[in-house]
Amino acid sequence: MRLCVTGVKLTKMKTVLTESPIEAAEYIKRGGIVAFPTETVYGLGANVFDENAIAKIFEAKQRPNDNPLIAHVGSVAQINLLVKEITPNAQKFIEAFFPAPLTLVLPKAENVPLIATANLDTIGVRMPRNSLAQKFLKSCETPLVAPSANLSGKPSPTDWRAVYEDLNTRIDCILQGAATEIGLESTVVDCTSQTPLILRSGAISLEDLRRIIPETELYQIVKDEAVKSPGLRHRHYSPRARVVLISDFRFQISDSSAFIGLSKPEQKFNLMKICRSVEEYAREVFAVFRECDRAGIETIYCETVEETGIGAALMDRLRRASEI
Ligand code: TXA
Ligand code: MG
Repeated sequence: MRLCVTGVKLTKMKTVLTESPIEAAEYIKRGGIVAFPTETVYGLGANVFDENAIAKIFEAKQRPNDNPLIAHVGSVAQINLLVKEITPNAQKFIEAFFPAPLTLVLPKAENVPLIATANLDTIGVRMPRNSLAQKFLKSCETPLVAPSANLSGKPSPTDWRAVYEDLNTRIDCILQGAATEIGLESTVVDCTSQTPLILRSGAISLEDLRRIIPETELYQIVKDEAVKSPGLRHRHYSPRARVVLISDFRFQISDSSAFIGLSKPEQKFNLMKICRSVEEYAREVFAVFRECDRAGIETIYCETVEETGIGAALMDRLRRASEI
């Protein structure tokens, strides 16, 4: 895998922690990179028109440079700065959902630098609904590109401490907010053709989208075809521990192990998280993965859930985490 040939050398820097969106926005205005909360996961932002700042994101995250970034806007009007056209399907989704944990892929405007989209002629656009994210975006006075604020390959950060764990001394600032409300990344929908295609599932579910446009489909990777979303190629969301998906409890545990799910298991695990709902499971799963790594857990048993609503997104992340 080719890693970041951006030419930017990362020197150790002081990472400022602040609760002020105005102070955090100052770093963006000076060409820096800032982590901030959204309702899905924490993002690592840079001015969408600042190539040098965007290069720093790839460097700080050690992100492969063929993986495009999502642009975040503070208002629907800002979308016009980023895209050639808002397609009729996208317009319907914007009216129905924005601001939302939903990213729409649209034809890119000429003036958005290619480093932002990894040379694609499309761009993913999202308007977060988290109020601190909105204040921050408004203070920045420009849309921001922002991938999840984790080291590439690690679970996405759902609180600012997880960002600090991965990126302290690698980024300019962390805007400290609460733990995220959803805990899984946004739904990504390709709106460039007649049929909207879900490239990544999230809190806005297939069912939600079909209520607006019934033809919406889930994208399936076809062997030998160019992958529509480059992120689908990369290893993702993985703790160091082995992740095993289970649907019953007829197994023996041997090594240091953990459990997360909805049922109460009979086995004695070193670490256990029993969730009261699929929503809580989704919100907690990445934090539990990180906690397991800190505790030196070797195997994490994850109970499978029904693949409706956010359950589809949760199962997608669990499957990816379990791939070796
Ligand atoms: O919830 C989220 O989406 C979070 C917060 C910070 O907004 N961001 C996030 O970004 O998860 P990231 O970079 O970790 O994941 C973006 C995904 C990647 O899988 C990428 O390949 C895909 O979206 N993507 C971005 N732009 C795309 C495009 N133009 N066409 C297809 N896929 C795209
Ligand atoms: Mg990510």
